[in-house]
Amino acid sequence: MAIDQRFLDELTARCDIVDVVSRYVALKKSGSNYFGLCPFHNEKTASFSVAPDKQIFHCFGCGAGGGVISFIMKIEGLEFQDAVRHLARQQGMEVPETGVSREDRKNRDRLLALMKDAGRFYYAQLHHPQNAAALQYFVRRGLSGKTMNRFGLGYAPDSFHALMDAMQAKGYTKAELDAAGLIGRSKQGTYYDKFRNRVMFPIIDIRGDVIAFGGRVMDDSTPKYLNSPETYIFGKSRNLFAMNLAKKTKNDYFLLAEGYMDVIALHQAGFDSAVASLGTALTEEQARLMSRYTNEVVICYDADNAGQKAAQRAIDILNRAGLRVKVLRIPGAKDPDEFIKAKGPEAFRKLIERSENHIEYRLQRIRDRYDMTEDEQRIGYLNEAAEELAALDNEIEREVYTGRVAKDAGVSVDSLKIQVEKALNQRRRRQKTRQRREVRAPAQHAQPNSREMRYENVPAARAEEGMISLILADNTLLGTIRAQITPEDFTSPDLRSIFEEMCRMEDEEHPITVTAFEGRIAPEQMDLLTRAVQRCYVSRDRRGQAMEDYLQIMRKTRLSRRTAEGQDPMLELAGLMKKKKRYQGPQG
Ligand code: GTP
Ligand code: MN
Repeated sequence: MAIDQRFLDELTARCDIVDVVSRYVALKKSGSNYFGLCPFHNEKTASFSVAPDKQIFHCFGCGAGGGVISFIMKIEGLEFQDAVRHLARQQGMEVPETGVSREDRKNRDRLLALMKDAGRFYYAQLHHPQNAAALQYFVRRGLSGKTMNRFGLGYAPDSFHALMDAMQAKGYTKAELDAAGLIGRSKQGTYYDKFRNRVMFPIIDIRGDVIAFGGRVMDDSTPKYLNSPETYIFGKSRNLFAMNLAKKTKNDYFLLAEGYMDVIALHQAGFDSAVASLGTALTEEQARLMSRYTNEVVICYDADNAGQKAAQRAIDILNRAGLRVKVLRIPGAKDPDEFIKAKGPEAFRKLIERSENHIEYRLQRIRDRYDMTEDEQRIGYLNEAAEELAALDNEIEREVYTGRVAKDAGVSVDSLKIQVEKALNQRRRRQKTRQRREVRAPAQHAQPNSREMRYENVPAARAEEGMISLILADNTLLGTIRAQITPEDFTSPDLRSIFEEMCRMEDEEHPITVTAFEGRIAPEQMDLLTRAVQRCYVSRDRRGQAMEDYLQIMRKTRLSRRTAEGQDPMLELAGLMKKKKRYQGPQG
């Protein structure tokens, strides 16, 4: 951790979570807590809560949670360190530059310099006469010299050490090249250039620094693209290709394409607000990044099925970031690059003008699946469309599109309205039951909200959650607990990391509070931790008993896991005895 813990303690003590959250969310007091509409997902009834006593927030709907720093990270789309700086600035505090972070900055600057030099090297290679084939590749794909320069395109020669040699001659070490993801290491321990015989696309962040490369083969071999791995300076979910150029656009919309080549072709054709994600599906962070520069995004993904599926997902992510979304359909070509080459920029501009807003797009997608000449099919379409219409938050939108769908399917507006109203009531009922369940019997929702984080053993994980929440309620219990169970006894890896962190805090003699976890565990784990705290409330006089219950479940789980793994439970018992003894002795 690069930021001094004492400074973090001071900062979180000074930033009252209710004050900070109130700047973004209208909060109402109810009991000792505050409630409001969750800023992290769409909702109509307040399930977002702030607990001033614990200085945490938690959403019963989407499961987001944490302390004041987590809140800023989520809502401003910032990394931990930047969120700390953001809050410190507001408090007029200066973030101390610890030895580690000064070192960090130096390393970062060094890696960025290396990436820039590597970019220059690839660029020079592209224009070297002996690599004419690479230049020819770009020319064949219709790129002008100006475009190649604007994107800093290059070529990685067909050699295992050309880049390494050139960079070492400039004074960079193999360790640095490795840290930058530019070289790999074979089993025999020899280093080699990762990018070989590929045309190179530098990935440049909004500050204008080269942070990664994408390299494409010039034939049909695979893998088609090789991208830089995640490094100290490159997170692929946080950056977008061509963002450095698109952020300067005068257009009031961004174009979101799938491929590097699409983006380059779009820019060359005059659409200078085109960006693409970096070989993965669009992320929330990328959507937030765009929302800092624009209010509207036109999705122009590939026309194939995979592209259209990805578009559906992107719509939701972009909407959640507060962006207006349109979806462009590309008739008669597989992607924007091909379309522009065949029909020209003017035709593409018309496509943008005609692009459907996301509601039209979704309705059209449903319509595509039905044959409107058959009555039965038409009814199927109307039923499905009614569901979609009922999902619209805005009444005017609902009215307008209900009219359009009715007209299109040849039924009266009134009859479709009744259908939509029915779907609407059903939705409301479903929502109500869901909320009742969430608020009154939260234990029924035993699974964490984050999809990546599923519990394998739900009853055990519940005891583990309970244990963690007990320790937070009373730090002195950890001594007793540590004497009887170890981190390995946790079945959930995430809860295990949280427990390990608790042990570390105890060793550092730091109070164990939710806010102390900020920056020490992953944001999803922070959600999980907050949820556990909110859910497993145990009154003071029942804590001892609860601890015994949880310990018993965890010990049982340990026994059955060991037995399942073929270990002798007796050995385990012996181990337990030893641990007990250690606990009863004086504590060091
Ligand atoms: P062209 O075939 O040259 O037109 O490439 P493109 O840039 O249009 O790419 P395509 O539509 O095939 O793929 C879209 C994006 O997915 C690419 O720009 C890459 O970021 C990524 N991608 C495609 N193939 C691969 C691959 O083999 N490996 C990785 N890591 N990413 C890939
Ligand atoms: Mn393409």
